[in-house]
Amino acid sequence: MAATIRQIHPIFVGEVSGVDLTKPLSPEDVATLKDGIARYGMLVFHDQKLTDEQQMAFSRNFGELENARGGNITKDKDKRLAEGMNDVSNLDKDGKPLAKDSRQHLFNIGNMLWHSDSSFRAVPAKYSLLSARVVNPIGGNTEFVDTRAAYDSLDAATKAEIENMVCEHSLMHSRGSLGFVDLSEEEKQMFKPVRQRLVRLHKDSGRKALYLSSHAGAILGMTMPEARILLRDLTEHATRPEMVYVHKWRPHDLVMWDNRCTLHRVRRYDASQPRDMRRTTVAGDEMTVEQVQAA
Ligand SMILES: [Fe+2]
Repeated sequence: MAATIRQIHPIFVGEVSGVDLTKPLSPEDVATLKDGIARYGMLVFHDQKLTDEQQMAFSRNFGELENARGGNITKDKDKRLAEGMNDVSNLDKDGKPLAKDSRQHLFNIGNMLWHSDSSFRAVPAKYSLLSARVVNPIGGNTEFVDTRAAYDSLDAATKAEIENMVCEHSLMHSRGSLGFVDLSEEEKQMFKPVRQRLVRLHKDSGRKALYLSSHAGAILGMTMPEARILLRDLTEHATRPEMVYVHKWRPHDLVMWDNRCTLHRVRRYDASQPRDMRRTTVAGDEMTVEQVQAA
């Protein structure tokens, strides 16, 4: 049986059937999935009961895995999952929900803002693959938008205005916007801002995309209030209700998205109950703009 893809949202999102991700894929199926994600921006798979090893093996069909270092405040000794896995659950290393006042929990609330994974890295991520192992009983949907469609639907004057803009992205911006400013000197060093183009060409589809993220907190050559209101306006434009795909998780769903042309956010859920979500991340292969070392 070969992989087939059906579009399930008016703008983007492909739902895949005919593949078992616990087993090695045929080159034809890998090609179908690569074409599919280039076109639809994200792919949804159901009933894929994966181990971490199987999830990593499947992810490597699309490139090297990203090194998770620099993406969180969790110390190595507190990590629940092996290297190669990003833990986006609400669980501590003993498998219990994190305390409401734990730094890890408060830091992770930032994932409820619209973002693109790893936009705070000089070479930002290509794909994310998120596997639902335990679904929370209340809330916890993940919402997505296609930022190529968002770009396409801008007026010509705005497109011209923003074409060459460069933003600064940092985990300090996204967390700081929620009032989480409790960072050590070491963390501040780790989260130093990087530069990203605001409009990027998504080569796999040949379309331009708005490269937004809650990590973006400044635009070069612009005052802070002007920059932030523009970024807010563009994010509102990109996330209008008709643009949004809401993924309601079922156990063993796997959702794969292209961070270069989508945004996503998690919705609030019952933090006292487990939500075991495990992500693998396929590293990007280029910067969107040259980095300049801050003085
Ligand atoms: Fe994310």
